[in-house]
Amino acid sequence: MLVEVIHLGKGHPSPSLLPDAMLRQALAGLTSARSLSALQYRGAAQDTNFRSALAAFLTDRYGHQVSPAAVLPTSGISLTLAMACQVFAAAGDTVVCGDPTYFLATTIFKTAGMALHTVPVDAQGMVVEALEAALRSGLRPALVYCIPAYHNPAGVCLSPERAERLVDLAETYGFRILADEPYTLLHYGPAPPPCLMSLDRGRGRVIGLGSFSKLLAPGLRVGWLHAHPDLIAAFCAHGTLRSGGGLNPWMSAAVTALMEDGSLGAHVDRLRTTLSARMDVLTASLEAHLPDCTFQRPAGGYFLWTRLTSPIPDGVAVLSGSRCSPSGSCREQARLSVSLYDAPMLQEAVSRLADAARDSSALGRAR
Ligand SMILES: Cc1ncc(COP(=O)(O)O)c(C=O)c1O
Repeated sequence: MLVEVIHLGKGHPSPSLLPDAMLRQALAGLTSARSLSALQYRGAAQDTNFRSALAAFLTDRYGHQVSPAAVLPTSGISLTLAMACQVFAAAGDTVVCGDPTYFLATTIFKTAGMALHTVPVDAQGMVVEALEAALRSGLRPALVYCIPAYHNPAGVCLSPERAERLVDLAETYGFRILADEPYTLLHYGPAPPPCLMSLDRGRGRVIGLGSFSKLLAPGLRVGWLHAHPDLIAAFCAHGTLRSGGGLNPWMSAAVTALMEDGSLGAHVDRLRTTLSARMDVLTASLEAHLPDCTFQRPAGGYFLWTRLTSPIPDGVAVLSGSRCSPSGSCREQARLSVSLYDAPMLQEAVSRLADAARDSSALGRAR
C-alpha cells in the first residue's frame, strides 16, 4: 500500500462518511422563506423550526420526551463549552475533568481561565466516588465536565448509578455538569445510553452538549444545547448570541431540513453500521496479530482505548494516552479511531504494528 502514515489516532470522519451530496441538496431545497429568515439577524431561541425538529429527532432516538423549549441551536460543542464557562462560571473558578479526557476540552477551559481538577476515569466512566471524596474535602467546582457516552478517548459509558449520583452531587454542592455528548447517537447496538439530561428532572444541573460534527460533518459547525429552559434563557443572554442573532442559522436551516425529511435518521443509522463494522475489524485484527495489546471493546462511538506494549512504527500514528491525560499519565495507552479509515486500511495499520512488534522482540532476543 502506498499510504505513508496511517493516522490511526485521528477523530476525523473519512470522506466516505461525509454526506456531501445530501447536504448540498438540503441547501438547494431550502424554501425562499426559510432561507431569507435564516439569513437575517434572529435570536437562536427564535429558530423554532430547528428546535421543534431537533426535539422530535431526539425524542425518537433517545426514547424519551425532549421538549423544544429544552434545546437550542449552537455552532458545535467547542464554542459552546467556551461560552458555557462564561455564562455558568467565572475565570478562576474550578472545572472538574476526567483523566483521561477529550484533550482539547482542557485547552478550552484553560483559555477561559478556569482551574482544572481531575478525577480518574475507569471502565464505568468518570469515578464519581473520587469526585465525591474531593467534594467532602472541600472542593467547590463551578462545573464538572464529563463525557457520559462512548468517551473520548476511553470508549466507556458512565454507569447508570454513577450518572444518578453525579446529578445528585451537583444539586447538593451547587455545581453544573457539562455533559459532552457527541457520540451518544452513534451506538452500535439497538439503543443508546440515556442522555444525562434525562436524569436532571427539572433541577437545572445538567447542560447537555450535542453536535452534528459526528452525525453529519464537522465543517457545518452546528450543534445543540440541551438543558432546563431557565439555563437556555441564561445562555441566550450571552453577548455573542445577542449581538450575532444566533450562532450559525443558515447551516442550522439545512440541518433542520434533513431532520424533517428523515434523511438525518437514515444517515445516522448508516454511520452506526459502518463504525460498528470497522470496530469489529480493528478489534479482531488486534486480537489476531497483537495478542499483548489490551482493550475493552466500546459499544459505540469512534474510539478504542488500548494499552500498546510494542513500539509504534513510522508508518502508523496514534494519539498517545498522555496527550489525553491532563496529569500527563496514561503513557502506555493510545487512542485508536475507526472514523478516518475503512476496514482494509485498519487491517494494514495493525499489520504494520504487528511487524514492528515482531522486529522489536527479535531485536530484544538478539541483544
Ligand atoms: C468529546 C468531544 N467533545 C467535543 C468535540 C468537538 O465537537 P465540535 O466539533 O462540535 O466542536 C469532540 C471532537 O472530537 C469530542 O470528541
